[in-house]
Amino acid sequence: MKVLRFSDLIQQGRVAGQRVFIRADLNVPQDDAGRITEDTRIRASIPCIEMALAAGAAVMVTSHLGRPTEGEFKAEDSLAPVARRMAELLGRKVPLLRDWTDGVEVAPGELVLLENCRVNKGEKKNDETLARKMAALCDIFVHDAFGTAHRAEASTYGIAQFAKVACAGPLLAAEIDAITKALKSPKRPLVAIVAGSKVSTKLSILKSLAANVDQLIVGGGIANTFMLAVGLSIGKSLAEPDLVDEARAIIDMMKARGAAVPIPIDVVVADEFSAIARANKVTATEVRPDDLILDIGPRTAAELAGIIARAGTVVWNGPMGVFEYDQFAGGTRTLAAAIAHSPAFSIAGGGDTLAAIAKYGIEKDIGYISTGGGAFLEVLEGRTLPAFEILQQRAAG
Ligand code: 3PG
Repeated sequence: MKVLRFSDLIQQGRVAGQRVFIRADLNVPQDDAGRITEDTRIRASIPCIEMALAAGAAVMVTSHLGRPTEGEFKAEDSLAPVARRMAELLGRKVPLLRDWTDGVEVAPGELVLLENCRVNKGEKKNDETLARKMAALCDIFVHDAFGTAHRAEASTYGIAQFAKVACAGPLLAAEIDAITKALKSPKRPLVAIVAGSKVSTKLSILKSLAANVDQLIVGGGIANTFMLAVGLSIGKSLAEPDLVDEARAIIDMMKARGAAVPIPIDVVVADEFSAIARANKVTATEVRPDDLILDIGPRTAAELAGIIARAGTVVWNGPMGVFEYDQFAGGTRTLAAAIAHSPAFSIAGGGDTLAAIAKYGIEKDIGYISTGGGAFLEVLEGRTLPAFEILQQRAAG
Protein backbone atom coordinates (compact mmCIF):
# COMPACT_ATOMS: atom_id res chain seq x y z
CA MET A 1 0.00 0.00 0.00
CA LYS A 2 1.57 3.25 -1.13
CA VAL A 3 1.06 5.98 1.44
CA LEU A 4 3.38 8.71 2.66
CA ARG A 5 4.74 7.83 6.09
CA PHE A 6 5.54 10.29 8.86
CA SER A 7 8.87 8.50 9.40
CA ASP A 8 9.81 9.30 5.76
CA LEU A 9 9.13 13.00 6.32
CA ILE A 10 11.28 12.96 9.45
CA GLN A 11 14.11 11.20 7.62
CA GLN A 12 13.90 13.79 4.87
CA GLY A 13 14.21 16.56 7.49
CA ARG A 14 10.79 17.99 6.57
CA VAL A 15 9.30 18.15 10.07
CA ALA A 16 11.45 20.55 12.12
CA GLY A 17 9.59 23.79 12.90
CA GLN A 18 6.43 22.52 11.18
CA ARG A 19 2.94 22.49 12.69
CA VAL A 20 1.99 18.83 12.99
CA PHE A 21 -1.61 17.74 13.65
CA ILE A 22 -1.85 14.14 14.87
CA ARG A 23 -5.22 12.35 14.82
CA ALA A 24 -4.88 9.61 17.41
CA ASP A 25 -7.47 7.15 18.71
CA LEU A 26 -7.51 7.82 22.45
CA ASN A 27 -10.99 6.36 22.84
CA VAL A 28 -10.27 4.35 25.99
CA PRO A 29 -12.73 2.66 28.35
CA GLN A 30 -13.52 4.49 31.61
CA ASP A 31 -15.36 3.49 34.77
CA ASP A 32 -18.33 5.42 36.19
CA ALA A 33 -15.98 7.81 37.97
CA GLY A 34 -14.24 8.59 34.66
CA ARG A 35 -11.08 6.64 35.54
CA ILE A 36 -9.35 4.97 32.60
CA THR A 37 -9.68 1.21 32.96
CA GLU A 38 -7.46 0.22 30.02
CA ASP A 39 -4.83 2.49 28.45
CA THR A 40 -3.45 0.49 25.49
CA ARG A 41 -4.53 3.11 22.96
CA ILE A 42 -2.89 5.96 24.88
CA ARG A 43 0.35 4.01 25.16
CA ALA A 44 0.16 3.16 21.47
CA SER A 45 -0.15 6.85 20.58
CA ILE A 46 3.07 7.86 22.38
CA PRO A 47 5.70 6.88 19.75
CA CYS A 48 4.20 9.19 17.11
CA ILE A 49 4.00 12.12 19.53
CA GLU A 50 7.57 11.55 20.70
CA MET A 51 8.79 11.30 17.11
CA ALA A 52 7.14 14.62 16.25
CA LEU A 53 8.51 16.39 19.35
CA ALA A 54 12.00 14.99 18.85
CA ALA A 55 11.92 16.23 15.25
CA GLY A 56 11.22 19.76 16.49
CA ALA A 57 7.58 20.06 15.42
CA ALA A 58 4.87 22.14 17.04
CA VAL A 59 2.55 19.28 17.95
CA MET A 60 -1.25 19.18 18.17
CA VAL A 61 -2.98 15.91 19.03
CA THR A 62 -6.67 15.16 19.06
CA SER A 63 -9.04 12.19 19.35
CA HIS A 64 -12.66 11.39 19.86
CA LEU A 65 -13.80 9.93 23.18
CA GLY A 66 -17.12 8.11 23.12
CA ARG A 67 -19.96 9.34 20.98
CA PRO A 68 -20.87 12.80 22.33
CA THR A 69 -23.57 15.06 20.91
CA GLU A 70 -21.97 17.53 18.53
CA GLY A 71 -21.98 21.13 19.71
CA GLU A 72 -22.66 20.16 23.34
CA PHE A 73 -19.52 19.82 25.42
CA LYS A 74 -20.12 17.89 28.65
CA ALA A 75 -17.56 17.18 31.38
CA GLU A 76 -17.79 13.42 30.80
CA ASP A 77 -16.76 13.89 27.17
CA SER A 78 -13.52 15.60 28.13
CA LEU A 79 -10.11 14.21 27.25
CA ALA A 80 -8.85 15.47 30.67
CA PRO A 81 -8.23 11.92 32.06
CA VAL A 82 -6.43 11.08 28.82
CA ALA A 83 -4.28 14.22 29.13
CA ARG A 84 -3.26 13.20 32.66
CA ARG A 85 -2.29 9.66 31.60
CA MET A 86 -0.48 10.96 28.54
CA ALA A 87 1.48 13.42 30.74
CA GLU A 88 2.59 10.51 32.96
CA LEU A 89 3.68 8.47 29.95
CA LEU A 90 5.49 11.34 28.26
CA GLY A 91 6.97 12.75 31.47
CA ARG A 92 5.89 16.25 30.49
CA LYS A 93 2.89 18.53 30.87
CA VAL A 94 0.06 17.97 28.41
CA PRO A 95 -2.08 21.12 28.21
CA LEU A 96 -5.65 20.52 27.04
CA LEU A 97 -7.28 23.10 24.77
CA ARG A 98 -11.06 23.40 24.69
CA ASP A 99 -12.11 25.50 21.67
CA TRP A 100 -9.50 24.99 19.03
CA THR A 101 -10.90 24.91 15.52
CA ASP A 102 -10.28 28.65 14.94
CA GLY A 103 -6.63 28.61 15.94
CA VAL A 104 -4.07 26.89 18.17
CA GLU A 105 -1.01 28.48 19.72
CA VAL A 106 1.77 25.98 20.02
CA ALA A 107 5.52 26.49 19.57
CA PRO A 108 8.04 24.06 18.03
CA GLY A 109 9.02 21.42 20.58
CA GLU A 110 5.71 21.89 22.39
CA LEU A 111 2.62 19.74 22.58
CA VAL A 112 -1.05 20.52 23.06
CA LEU A 113 -3.95 18.10 23.29
CA LEU A 114 -7.09 19.34 21.55
CA GLU A 115 -10.40 18.47 23.22
CA ASN A 116 -12.68 15.68 21.99
CA CYS A 117 -12.95 16.30 18.26
CA ARG A 118 -16.41 14.72 18.10
CA VAL A 119 -17.86 17.65 20.02
CA ASN A 120 -17.17 19.83 16.96
CA LYS A 121 -20.25 20.35 14.81
CA GLY A 122 -19.85 18.58 11.48
CA GLU A 123 -17.24 16.06 12.65
CA LYS A 124 -19.26 12.86 12.08
CA LYS A 125 -20.60 13.95 8.70
CA ASN A 126 -17.14 14.98 7.52
CA ASP A 127 -18.28 18.57 7.01
CA GLU A 128 -16.01 20.29 4.49
CA THR A 129 -15.87 23.66 6.27
CA LEU A 130 -14.80 22.02 9.52
CA ALA A 131 -12.29 19.79 7.76
CA ARG A 132 -10.76 22.78 5.93
CA LYS A 133 -10.50 24.71 9.21
CA MET A 134 -8.67 21.84 10.84
CA ALA A 135 -6.40 21.39 7.83
CA ALA A 136 -5.51 25.09 8.03
CA LEU A 137 -4.19 24.57 11.58
CA CYS A 138 -1.25 22.50 10.36
CA ASP A 139 1.50 21.99 7.81
CA ILE A 140 1.44 18.21 8.19
CA PHE A 141 -1.53 15.99 9.05
CA VAL A 142 -0.60 12.65 10.58
CA HIS A 143 -3.27 9.94 10.69
CA ASP A 144 -2.26 7.62 13.52
CA ALA A 145 -5.73 6.51 14.64
CA PHE A 146 -6.04 2.93 13.40
CA GLY A 147 -9.02 2.29 15.70
CA THR A 148 -10.88 5.02 13.78
CA ALA A 149 -9.51 4.21 10.33
CA HIS A 150 -12.88 2.77 9.26
CA ARG A 151 -14.61 6.12 9.82
CA ALA A 152 -14.67 8.97 7.30
CA GLU A 153 -15.04 11.96 9.62
CA ALA A 154 -13.74 15.51 9.41
CA SER A 155 -10.71 14.83 11.64
CA THR A 156 -9.89 11.53 9.93
CA TYR A 157 -10.82 12.01 6.28
CA GLY A 158 -11.64 15.59 5.32
CA ILE A 159 -8.53 16.96 7.00
CA ALA A 160 -6.42 14.41 5.10
CA GLN A 161 -7.96 15.68 1.87
CA PHE A 162 -7.22 19.34 2.54
CA ALA A 163 -4.02 19.44 4.63
CA LYS A 164 -0.88 20.59 2.79
CA VAL A 165 0.72 17.22 3.56
CA ALA A 166 -1.09 14.10 4.79
CA CYS A 167 0.68 10.97 5.98
CA ALA A 168 0.35 7.79 8.03
CA GLY A 169 1.70 7.76 11.57
CA PRO A 170 3.78 4.85 12.90
CA LEU A 171 0.83 3.08 14.57
CA LEU A 172 -1.36 3.24 11.46
CA ALA A 173 1.57 2.03 9.36
CA ALA A 174 2.45 -0.79 11.78
CA GLU A 175 -1.16 -2.00 11.91
CA ILE A 176 -1.50 -2.21 8.17
CA ASP A 177 1.93 -3.83 7.80
CA ALA A 178 1.02 -6.52 10.36
CA ILE A 179 -2.39 -7.22 8.83
CA THR A 180 -0.94 -7.31 5.31
CA LYS A 181 1.75 -9.74 6.51
CA ALA A 182 -0.93 -11.95 8.06
CA LEU A 183 -3.44 -11.93 5.22
CA LYS A 184 -1.80 -11.01 1.92
CA SER A 185 1.40 -13.03 2.05
CA PRO A 186 0.95 -15.32 5.03
CA LYS A 187 3.19 -18.15 6.05
CA ARG A 188 0.89 -21.18 5.68
CA PRO A 189 -1.07 -22.89 7.03
CA LEU A 190 -3.10 -19.74 7.69
CA VAL A 191 -5.53 -20.28 10.55
CA ALA A 192 -8.27 -17.79 11.44
CA ILE A 193 -10.22 -17.92 14.69
CA VAL A 194 -13.53 -16.09 14.44
CA ALA A 195 -15.72 -16.27 17.48
CA GLY A 196 -18.41 -14.21 19.06
CA SER A 197 -22.11 -14.31 19.66
CA LYS A 198 -23.52 -13.92 16.15
CA VAL A 199 -22.78 -15.15 12.65
CA SER A 200 -24.75 -12.19 11.26
CA THR A 201 -22.28 -9.59 12.58
CA LYS A 202 -19.32 -11.50 11.19
CA LEU A 203 -20.82 -13.13 8.10
CA SER A 204 -18.88 -11.09 5.58
CA ILE A 205 -15.65 -11.66 7.55
CA LEU A 206 -16.29 -15.42 7.58
CA LYS A 207 -16.99 -15.41 3.83
CA SER A 208 -13.95 -13.37 2.98
CA LEU A 209 -11.67 -15.49 5.20
CA ALA A 210 -13.18 -18.71 3.82
CA ALA A 211 -11.69 -17.81 0.44
CA ASN A 212 -8.20 -17.46 1.86
CA VAL A 213 -7.49 -19.37 5.07
CA ASP A 214 -6.57 -23.04 5.49
CA GLN A 215 -8.50 -23.58 8.71
CA LEU A 216 -11.42 -21.45 9.88
CA ILE A 217 -11.94 -22.05 13.59
CA VAL A 218 -15.32 -20.84 14.82
CA GLY A 219 -16.30 -20.31 18.44
CA GLY A 220 -19.06 -18.96 20.65
CA GLY A 221 -22.56 -18.53 19.20
CA ILE A 222 -21.03 -18.67 15.72
CA ALA A 223 -19.85 -22.26 16.37
CA ASN A 224 -23.38 -23.16 17.51
CA THR A 225 -24.80 -22.05 14.16
CA PHE A 226 -22.16 -24.15 12.38
CA MET A 227 -23.06 -27.13 14.59
CA LEU A 228 -26.67 -26.73 13.47
CA ALA A 229 -25.46 -26.61 9.87
CA VAL A 230 -23.91 -30.08 10.18
CA GLY A 231 -27.06 -31.46 11.80
CA LEU A 232 -26.06 -31.38 15.48
CA SER A 233 -28.53 -30.41 18.21
CA ILE A 234 -27.56 -27.41 20.31
CA GLY A 235 -30.42 -27.31 22.85
CA LYS A 236 -31.36 -23.76 23.77
CA SER A 237 -27.92 -22.32 22.94
CA LEU A 238 -27.50 -18.98 21.25
CA ALA A 239 -27.55 -19.43 17.47
CA GLU A 240 -29.06 -18.02 14.29
CA PRO A 241 -31.04 -20.83 12.63
CA ASP A 242 -31.86 -18.60 9.64
CA LEU A 243 -28.14 -18.42 8.83
CA VAL A 244 -27.60 -22.17 8.77
CA ASP A 245 -27.56 -22.19 4.96
CA GLU A 246 -24.89 -19.49 4.93
CA ALA A 247 -22.84 -21.52 7.43
CA ARG A 248 -23.22 -24.63 5.25
CA ALA A 249 -22.11 -22.64 2.20
CA ILE A 250 -18.99 -21.53 4.06
CA ILE A 251 -18.21 -25.14 5.07
CA ASP A 252 -18.67 -26.27 1.42
CA MET A 253 -16.58 -23.41 0.09
CA MET A 254 -13.74 -24.36 2.44
CA LYS A 255 -14.04 -28.07 1.59
CA ALA A 256 -13.88 -27.32 -2.14
CA ARG A 257 -10.53 -25.61 -1.53
CA GLY A 258 -9.19 -28.51 0.54
CA ALA A 259 -9.54 -26.36 3.66
CA ALA A 260 -11.73 -26.94 6.72
CA VAL A 261 -14.03 -25.50 9.35
CA PRO A 262 -13.40 -27.73 12.40
CA ILE A 263 -16.73 -28.43 14.11
CA PRO A 264 -16.65 -29.04 17.90
CA ILE A 265 -16.60 -32.72 18.87
CA ASP A 266 -17.37 -31.92 22.50
CA VAL A 267 -18.76 -28.93 24.37
CA VAL A 268 -19.30 -27.56 27.87
CA VAL A 269 -22.97 -27.07 28.71
CA ALA A 270 -25.01 -25.66 31.60
CA ASP A 271 -28.69 -25.20 32.28
CA GLU A 272 -28.34 -21.50 33.00
CA PHE A 273 -26.09 -18.60 32.03
CA SER A 274 -24.56 -17.48 35.33
CA ALA A 275 -21.31 -17.27 37.26
CA ILE A 276 -22.42 -20.14 39.50
CA ALA A 277 -23.84 -22.36 36.74
CA ARG A 278 -22.69 -25.97 36.94
CA ALA A 279 -20.62 -26.92 33.89
CA ASN A 280 -20.98 -30.34 32.22
CA LYS A 281 -18.67 -31.67 29.54
CA VAL A 282 -20.53 -33.67 26.90
CA THR A 283 -19.81 -34.94 23.39
CA ALA A 284 -21.28 -32.81 20.61
CA THR A 285 -23.93 -35.46 19.89
CA GLU A 286 -25.19 -35.49 23.49
CA VAL A 287 -26.49 -31.94 23.89
CA ARG A 288 -29.96 -32.05 25.47
CA PRO A 289 -32.91 -29.76 24.66
CA ASP A 290 -32.43 -27.76 27.87
CA ASP A 291 -28.67 -27.33 27.53
CA LEU A 292 -26.84 -24.09 26.84
CA ILE A 293 -23.45 -24.51 25.16
CA LEU A 294 -21.08 -22.07 26.87
CA ASP A 295 -17.68 -23.33 25.74
CA ILE A 296 -15.97 -25.86 23.51
CA GLY A 297 -14.99 -29.08 25.24
CA PRO A 298 -11.44 -30.19 26.16
CA ARG A 299 -11.09 -32.67 23.26
CA THR A 300 -12.07 -29.98 20.76
CA ALA A 301 -9.74 -27.49 22.45
CA ALA A 302 -6.86 -29.99 22.25
CA GLU A 303 -7.56 -30.66 18.56
CA LEU A 304 -7.66 -26.92 17.79
CA ALA A 305 -4.48 -26.36 19.83
CA GLY A 306 -2.80 -28.92 17.55
CA ILE A 307 -3.94 -27.02 14.45
CA ILE A 308 -2.56 -23.79 15.94
CA ALA A 309 0.74 -25.45 16.89
CA ARG A 310 1.25 -26.42 13.22
CA ALA A 311 0.12 -23.05 11.81
CA GLY A 312 2.36 -20.58 10.02
CA THR A 313 0.04 -17.65 10.71
CA VAL A 314 -2.86 -17.20 13.15
CA VAL A 315 -5.46 -14.43 13.01
CA TRP A 316 -7.54 -14.27 16.19
CA ASN A 317 -10.80 -12.47 16.80
CA GLY A 318 -13.14 -13.56 19.57
CA PRO A 319 -13.12 -15.89 22.59
CA MET A 320 -14.29 -19.51 22.27
CA GLY A 321 -16.66 -19.45 25.22
CA VAL A 322 -17.85 -17.42 28.17
CA PHE A 323 -14.28 -17.01 29.45
CA GLU A 324 -15.34 -14.44 32.05
CA TYR A 325 -16.64 -17.41 34.10
CA ASP A 326 -13.87 -19.85 34.97
CA GLN A 327 -15.92 -23.00 34.37
CA PHE A 328 -16.46 -21.91 30.74
CA ALA A 329 -12.97 -20.49 30.15
CA GLY A 330 -11.15 -23.71 29.25
CA GLY A 331 -11.51 -23.40 25.48
CA THR A 332 -10.33 -19.80 25.32
CA ARG A 333 -7.49 -20.49 27.78
CA THR A 334 -6.26 -23.53 25.82
CA LEU A 335 -6.34 -21.64 22.51
CA ALA A 336 -4.64 -18.62 24.07
CA ALA A 337 -1.86 -20.86 25.38
CA ALA A 338 -1.58 -22.60 22.01
CA ILE A 339 -1.25 -19.25 20.20
CA ALA A 340 1.30 -18.06 22.77
CA HIS A 341 3.45 -21.18 22.31
CA SER A 342 3.02 -21.56 18.56
CA PRO A 343 5.91 -20.47 16.33
CA ALA A 344 3.25 -18.97 14.00
CA PHE A 345 3.04 -15.23 13.42
CA SER A 346 -0.10 -14.24 15.31
CA ILE A 347 -2.27 -11.18 15.07
CA ALA A 348 -5.17 -10.50 17.43
CA GLY A 349 -7.78 -7.78 17.67
CA GLY A 350 -11.16 -6.87 19.12
CA GLY A 351 -12.21 -5.88 22.63
CA ASP A 352 -13.04 -9.37 24.00
CA THR A 353 -9.92 -10.86 22.47
CA LEU A 354 -7.76 -8.19 24.09
CA ALA A 355 -9.48 -8.89 27.43
CA ALA A 356 -8.68 -12.62 27.05
CA ILE A 357 -5.07 -11.84 26.15
CA ALA A 358 -4.80 -9.65 29.26
CA LYS A 359 -6.51 -12.29 31.46
CA TYR A 360 -3.99 -14.96 30.44
CA GLY A 361 -1.01 -12.57 30.43
CA ILE A 362 0.16 -13.50 26.92
CA GLU A 363 0.60 -9.97 25.49
CA LYS A 364 4.29 -10.55 24.80
CA ASP A 365 3.63 -13.83 23.00
CA ILE A 366 1.31 -12.40 20.36
CA GLY A 367 3.01 -11.26 17.15
CA TYR A 368 0.85 -8.18 16.84
CA ILE A 369 -2.03 -6.87 18.94
CA SER A 370 -4.26 -4.52 16.98
CA THR A 371 -5.68 -1.40 18.63
CA GLY A 372 -8.66 -1.60 16.29
CA GLY A 373 -12.10 -2.90 17.18
CA GLY A 374 -14.44 -2.25 14.24
CA ALA A 375 -11.47 -1.21 12.10
CA PHE A 376 -9.72 -4.55 12.63
CA LEU A 377 -12.88 -6.42 11.66
CA GLU A 378 -13.35 -4.36 8.51
CA VAL A 379 -9.78 -5.10 7.42
CA LEU A 380 -10.44 -8.83 7.96
CA GLU A 381 -13.46 -8.42 5.69
CA GLY A 382 -11.05 -7.33 3.02
CA ARG A 383 -12.29 -3.75 2.88
CA THR A 384 -10.05 -0.77 2.17
CA LEU A 385 -10.56 1.57 5.10
CA PRO A 386 -11.26 5.27 4.37
CA ALA A 387 -8.04 6.27 6.16
CA PHE A 388 -5.92 4.27 3.75
CA GLU A 389 -7.99 5.19 0.74
CA ILE A 390 -7.48 8.95 1.25
CA LEU A 391 -3.81 8.62 2.22
CA GLN A 392 -3.22 6.53 -0.92
CA GLN A 393 -5.02 9.16 -2.98
CA ARG A 394 -2.82 11.90 -1.50
CA ALA A 395 0.34 9.85 -2.07
CA ALA A 396 -0.66 9.35 -5.71
CA GLY A 397 -0.63 13.01 -6.11
C1 3PG B 1 -13.43 2.11 18.65
O1 3PG B 1 -13.54 2.18 19.88
O2 3PG B 1 -13.58 1.05 18.01
C2 3PG B 1 -12.97 3.34 17.90
O3 3PG B 1 -12.47 4.30 18.77
C3 3PG B 1 -14.08 3.88 17.03
O4 3PG B 1 -15.11 4.37 17.82
P1 3PG B 1 -16.57 4.58 17.16
O5 3PG B 1 -17.12 3.21 16.90
O6 3PG B 1 -17.34 5.36 18.19
O7 3PG B 1 -16.37 5.34 15.88
